[in-house]
Amino acid sequence: MNDLTTRTFASDATGLSEAAEILVSGGLLAFPTETVYGLGVDARNSDAVARLYAAKGRPSFNPLIVHVSSVEVAERYVEFDDTARALAQAFWPGALTLVLPLRANAGISPLVTAGLQTLAIRVPNHPVAQGLLDAFSGPIAAPSANPSGQVSPTTADHVLDHMTGRIAGVVTGGASHVGVESTIIATQPKPTLLRAGGIPKEAIEDTVGHALACAGDSAAPSSPGQLASHYAPKGTVRLNATTVDAGEVLLGFGDVEAAINLSRSGDLVEAAARLFDALHQLNAMNAHRIAVSPIPEHGLGAAINDRLRRAAAPR
Ligand code: TXA
Ligand code: MG
Repeated sequence: MNDLTTRTFASDATGLSEAAEILVSGGLLAFPTETVYGLGVDARNSDAVARLYAAKGRPSFNPLIVHVSSVEVAERYVEFDDTARALAQAFWPGALTLVLPLRANAGISPLVTAGLQTLAIRVPNHPVAQGLLDAFSGPIAAPSANPSGQVSPTTADHVLDHMTGRIAGVVTGGASHVGVESTIIATQPKPTLLRAGGIPKEAIEDTVGHALACAGDSAAPSSPGQLASHYAPKGTVRLNATTVDAGEVLLGFGDVEAAINLSRSGDLVEAAARLFDALHQLNAMNAHRIAVSPIPEHGLGAAINDRLRRAAAPR
């Protein structure tokens, strides 16, 4: 699998049109989004999707998010209800994924949905992702561009560290400014939070007008990708650490002395943007035992803590 030449594309018009050719020919192309770097393929091409699962080492029951350029294009693939329309209006383009009924004859590969009758779809808020969607003019299925179970990439270098030789190319576009993946919401049978992410749950509840159900509640749909151990750095992870034991490296938050601090000022937006890069750095430092400062559970803290609990889960 590690025998491809991985090309790097600039995000100018020439780079994007060459990069789009890779998608057209069924290749695997990493690209920046505002949340994390995605590993994209043509969502209509089952061969390409199968090679994507192989490159990620991903369990095939874990379906993918399709990226499109606008809500109008999304309507070709999924059926919107009133709640979905209101959420798309409020948060697209942006870090929100909607899980909606797949239209018959949408032409999306069944490997993308892993056989489900619903499709996860979003409109990314990143000029390079939008430029690529324009140049390709088709739906791009893209999980985060990391090997399954490992830390998500927020720079082209993170992608190249793990995926060189396994993918045809990466489009460069700086650091992903949100830094955690999209929030995933299903609207049927009732509005449900499937994954905490870049748009805080509270903001979504304001638009929906009531509290969201959570995956795991009875009658709530579940997100098959929510494996317990995920986002794992190489070292062990201890959460809510208010002291640091001998041999531990502190991943700090707030006004603490730490090897790496997610946000000295206690800003959750800054912490989310730095999270995955910090986990990559801890790997590079060979940190065997990682202690993590307490992080509040509100706003983007819910997404950060979700990723950290998975990083800390028994493997
Ligand atoms: O920010 C993001 O969402 C990034 C960027 C690249 O867009 N993508 C991303 O994809 O995080 P991935 O593949 O790492 O996560 C996709 C999640 C998984 O948890 C999967 O189970 C869930 O979406 N999912 C996909 N289709 C679904 C469906 N039909 N029903 C429920 N959950 C679904
Ligand atoms: Mg992922």
